[in-house]
Amino acid sequence: MFTANQNFRMLPESYLFSEVGRRLREFKEKNPGREVIRMDIGDVTRPLPECVVEAMRRAIDEMGHAETFHGYGPEQGYDFLRELILEYDYVQMGVKCLGAEDIFVSDGAKSDLGNLTDIFGIDLRIGVTTPGYPVYADSNVLSGAAGIPVGGGWERLIEIPCPAFNGFMPELPESPLDVIYLCYPNNPTGTSMTREQLTEWVDYALMCKALIIYDSAYEAYITQPGIPHSIYEIPGAEKVAIEVRSFSKTAGFTGVRCGYTVVPRTLEFGFADGAEASLNRMWLRRQTTKFNGVGYIVQKGAEALYTPEGREAIERNVAYYMKNARDLREAIISKRWEVFGGVNAPYVWFRPLPHGDSWKWFERMLGEYGISSTPGVGFGAMGEGWLRLTGFGSRENTREAIDRLMSDM
Ligand code: MLT
Repeated sequence: MFTANQNFRMLPESYLFSEVGRRLREFKEKNPGREVIRMDIGDVTRPLPECVVEAMRRAIDEMGHAETFHGYGPEQGYDFLRELILEYDYVQMGVKCLGAEDIFVSDGAKSDLGNLTDIFGIDLRIGVTTPGYPVYADSNVLSGAAGIPVGGGWERLIEIPCPAFNGFMPELPESPLDVIYLCYPNNPTGTSMTREQLTEWVDYALMCKALIIYDSAYEAYITQPGIPHSIYEIPGAEKVAIEVRSFSKTAGFTGVRCGYTVVPRTLEFGFADGAEASLNRMWLRRQTTKFNGVGYIVQKGAEALYTPEGREAIERNVAYYMKNARDLREAIISKRWEVFGGVNAPYVWFRPLPHGDSWKWFERMLGEYGISSTPGVGFGAMGEGWLRLTGFGSRENTREAIDRLMSDM
């Protein structure tokens, strides 16, 4: 008799952003004609760069002719793209410890972040920062790695608190962890880690032989010097860290789907019986078993991002969205609400006055300002009372949202 995966019963009925969408639809049904500005999910609004569109068109033409047609590609991505990623995103940024074989092109950061649990052993102590991107905890619950629910939490999922009084930064845990999820620049709080702070985490992982899963989907938004763009800038990280990146937020790929994950061959981990394990080979095995690679057309589009035109387009996009984020941050500061983010990240994380719970404020933001936000508690209990807005809207909508926010001043 088939029985369904029990773990699904232990998660909330719907994923955070699906719940936001549901409540938004409900609001619109009750308030027909009311125009709502969406600043909840971090979906970009600027179109694909022209050079990407052209490259994809050419790739479509190739696919339409027998001589240049491409069937299954390499599951880990075409070499033309992996070599460019290595050269531009790492070697030219001073990271010399990686090779193209360490890079796996994917259909986006979210899938890989969810799928990486496939290479975890059993009975691991898994550390997730709270607030944090819900995919880390939810995918561990679904795979069973989180264990059973205990006292409002999970048997094997250890929350790493990032409290407001600590600027939403995590403190090193007192007991050893086996897996640590970190995301910097951070979604949702928009905070970033200095080189010294990240070094502490890498050293901690080296000491406890823990694997760090480093989500660096927002690295392009770093504007201040001294903030590492890649965890591999930190000595020793190539022994303990997997890094996950995405073209979504820089190049308009949220609907195209392309990113990559770095699983260095230099990672030093073993199996429970002490035998050596190559996570790089295991991830290749996982990908070749469950994934057929990202489409040729999409990878040709991503390749174009490494041309001078592509790089300029990314710079323009980042500048555009960061202006939105900075302006939102300024508006929130002038309302005398507490705020984080909007400096090295496209997210603005704030606590409106009077203090109240996040979902109530979500409704209030809709009702009073016609703005859809993401409730901070959706990212974990430590986010209660906070909300997140994204800088990924159009300039016009962002200006309008700011006018509305300032209208009661
Ligand atoms: C977010 O809004 O947190 C992101 O858009 C979610 C994602 O990238 O999957």
